Amino acid sequence: MFTTAFLDLPPLEEAAGTVTLPGSKSISNRVLLLAALSAGKTVVHDLLDSDDTRVMLDALRALGCSVVHRDASIEITGIQGHVIPAQAGTQGAAKRLFLGNAGTAMRPLTAALALLGGDFELSGVARMHERPIGDLVDALRQLGCRIDYLGTEGYPPLKIHPATALKLDAPISVRGDVSSQFLTALLMALPLASHSAPTPGTNVSGLPPEGAAPPRGGPSAGHDIVIEVVGDLISKPYIEITLKMLERFGIAVRRDGWQRFTIPAGSRYVSPGEIHVEADASSASYFIALGAIAARPGAPIRIEGVGADSIQGDIRFVEAAQQMGAQVTSGPNWLEVTRGAWPLKAIDLDCNHIPDAAMTLAVMALYGDGPSTLRNIASWRVKETDRLAAMATELRKLGAEVEEGADFLRVTPPADWHAASIHTYDDHRVAMCFALAAFNRRGAHVRIEDPKCVAKTFPDFFEVLFSVSRTDAPHIPVVCVDGPTASGKGTLASEVAHRLGYHYLDSGALYRITGLAATRAGLALDEAHEHTIAKMAETLPIVFTGGRVLLAEADVTDAIRTEEAGMNASRVSALPAVRTALVALQQGFRKLPGLVADGRDMGTVIFPDATLKVYLTASAAQRAERRYKQLISKGISATLPGLRADLEARDARDSNRTVAPLKPAQDALLLDNSSQTVEESVAQVLRWWEEKQPFSE
Ligand code: DC
Repeated sequence: MFTTAFLDLPPLEEAAGTVTLPGSKSISNRVLLLAALSAGKTVVHDLLDSDDTRVMLDALRALGCSVVHRDASIEITGIQGHVIPAQAGTQGAAKRLFLGNAGTAMRPLTAALALLGGDFELSGVARMHERPIGDLVDALRQLGCRIDYLGTEGYPPLKIHPATALKLDAPISVRGDVSSQFLTALLMALPLASHSAPTPGTNVSGLPPEGAAPPRGGPSAGHDIVIEVVGDLISKPYIEITLKMLERFGIAVRRDGWQRFTIPAGSRYVSPGEIHVEADASSASYFIALGAIAARPGAPIRIEGVGADSIQGDIRFVEAAQQMGAQVTSGPNWLEVTRGAWPLKAIDLDCNHIPDAAMTLAVMALYGDGPSTLRNIASWRVKETDRLAAMATELRKLGAEVEEGADFLRVTPPADWHAASIHTYDDHRVAMCFALAAFNRRGAHVRIEDPKCVAKTFPDFFEVLFSVSRTDAPHIPVVCVDGPTASGKGTLASEVAHRLGYHYLDSGALYRITGLAATRAGLALDEAHEHTIAKMAETLPIVFTGGRVLLAEADVTDAIRTEEAGMNASRVSALPAVRTALVALQQGFRKLPGLVADGRDMGTVIFPDATLKVYLTASAAQRAERRYKQLISKGISATLPGLRADLEARDARDSNRTVAPLKPAQDALLLDNSSQTVEESVAQVLRWWEEKQPFSE
């Protein structure tokens, strides 16, 4: 995940390959709760790993479910519709569950816990306490559930007590025009009350629970439970997901239109044993659009995890993309997208059925053959941010003409694309859809601010995007850092890489590894063996992984850092054929989204076209002192005057040697860090980086 302040996307050319998308958030949290309420084990494959599913899993663990991670799957052992007494709170000590900002956890858990029995306190982050829950609480209170507001009436946090008696004979009414999650919560939890237990209130162990036991199912053999929706039901596709998931867990809800839902008497949650979570159809929209905009001829974008027969409403984005010109084929659990019409065909579409995915259409509209209009999207105003205003503002930055209505957006493609820094409003979808603007082919750069906001539903979005995107190497930005030994260039370069979200090349490490490999092969590091060592360097089996360096699968991270390895590196680096042999390897590190490289000839030989070249210097006295501290901290003895004399001698040798002498590239910016902290040097380099960016703001 990119945790940087911003992510700069260079102009991207085309895309090809396969992406596997993370699981759907809506399906994930429904499956988790249903598995928890069932008896026995459910193995859940492809669950979304995000903030919202993590809080749900924590809550289920707190209720006594066992949750075991096995490879890519999660094994849940359910509580069979009864909270184990030791896990339920009591009047004196309510069990506290923290649910972050996950509406898909707060609403269904409120309903389930109110019916399960026990004393609970449910809370979340500040924003969660501004999200309404009153309609659900009202519906549950009609039944006899006891729920108190601990803060503002109608909003979490909530306190839940065991119900005294459940009134199940009359239909339960719930409003359907505010959030469909209230109906979902009731549909998922009410089967708990639809069968009469052998002994009302017994728990999984057959013993009566401690504290107040909720009468489950009442005195009769069970009840049909009827839910009536008041007002027009919104977001019906989400209710369909709920019904489908219930069906997978053995509960066949009868539905009369969208107004009346009946849970048959005696319904029981039955684990399907194993279940696959479909990939998120809203997340798929970015890659469907990618295929339509940029798929390489003859090489489609293949999306794994979701097919056109998906149960998610947003899958209908496919139709809209096809209307704009995308060529889409589909099979069970996959989609393939290639380019069709180009430019894309402008559309005029009612997007009420795909509100989330329609944001992607707004960015596709930039590539249209005329103005596109997206209608009936008033709900955009009350999402993570006012998405209508946000999309209009950011699309204009790229040069589009945008008309923003109360419930529509009209986008006229830019006559002239501008580079733009896209503000993302802590809204994952704004960040993801605007990444597609980087394929403008007019050379306009796109910066995505606060890229980590994608973590809500798709933590690795940008990594996945880069894995299928391609651009010519000269477009990929490079920052080079060079300087004399012990100037701190490695520290500076790796920190700058970290702050930009770019790859990092420590070219010295390549010479160190070459020196080590040659020494281990018994070769003297001199001209006589130059070509043998060069041949070896060309095909070094090196892997950089998680901060470690592997040579032929052996960890050499520490071995290449000794003083001796440094000397050997210095020797092999003076052999011209070795330097030539390492050129292609080093250039291969130039990958999306960008590279920071440190070392001798980075800005002169390897990346002469680098965006920014920095030549770092510091006085010999300063460098000697830094090296001294470094060695002493490692328990290696050294003297300051000795180190300083060594450094000065090495500087002289490095500057005067004929092969890659130490000297700044002509266009390098000089940075003397003698009296700077690392952070100050980093800030200076980032300021220079900013000055090179085309954003006008
Ligand atoms: O930066 P370092 O100490 O890891 O570098 C090891 C040796 O390799 C050092 O003598 C400089 C040399 N080197 C080089 O000649 N060219 C590079 N691009 C990087 C390092």
